[in-house]
Amino acid sequence: MKIVITENYQQLSQQAARIVAKAILANPGLVLGLATGDTPRGMYRYLVAFYREGLLDFSQITSFNLDEYVGIDPHDPHSYHFYMQENLMGQVNIPPENVHIPLGVAADLLEECRQFEQAIERVGGIELQVLGLGENGHIGFNEPGADWGSTTHLVELTEETRRANSRFFSPGEEIPKKALTMGIKTIMQASQILLLVSGERKGVTLAEVLFGPVTPRVPASVLQLHPKVTVLVDQNTTQFRQI
Ligand code: GLP
Repeated sequence: MKIVITENYQQLSQQAARIVAKAILANPGLVLGLATGDTPRGMYRYLVAFYREGLLDFSQITSFNLDEYVGIDPHDPHSYHFYMQENLMGQVNIPPENVHIPLGVAADLLEECRQFEQAIERVGGIELQVLGLGENGHIGFNEPGADWGSTTHLVELTEETRRANSRFFSPGEEIPKKALTMGIKTIMQASQILLLVSGERKGVTLAEVLFGPVTPRVPASVLQLHPKVTVLVDQNTTQFRQI
């Protein structure tokens, strides 16, 4: 595991974008696993800039997103479909048919999970998976207690996660109780993983993730067992700096 501490969020975003850009330049048909949340926004901005400058071509890229809320329509601004469209897909030349995000309004959610997993298998697996970190140590929406052997599945969100994600919803708006997420097994099968961590409240969790026991109580701790992980940490994740 390679841990890189960056001076600030901008540097974290720049370095993350460079890692993804290098992977795309080395392999124009890269299969990318992507994340949402506030943390990767800066990375997406740099990737879009590289594309606009003519450095990157997304025309042969295939992407798979980690997760999506159940019951939220892709056109709803709260959906991860919408987020991806705004932050990346709508700004670069990735063919829409190459973009895979679990559909949280599918009539048969279990079938949706099965097809999503099959689509990953069909392209030979994810080559580079970008991850963020939930305040409670979740990756994707694999909450504490997650099953190490899980593939894409339906999950109940913890109150903690719903509270943490309430910042994306206006007061009075219903925060989803369920989501579809790649499982721990799906994530661990990626050839390479890039974990991005920024946010004052994540320091203690990150210390547990990187140096604590490998336990489903802290789902991201499983990454200690992955052969090729790079962790980019914004040093403003202050509690981590103090440990
Ligand atoms: C959500 C997503 C995760 C993401 C996490 C952290 O819960 N399901 O994939 O990593 O939020 O988000 P942020 O980067 O906004 O802190």
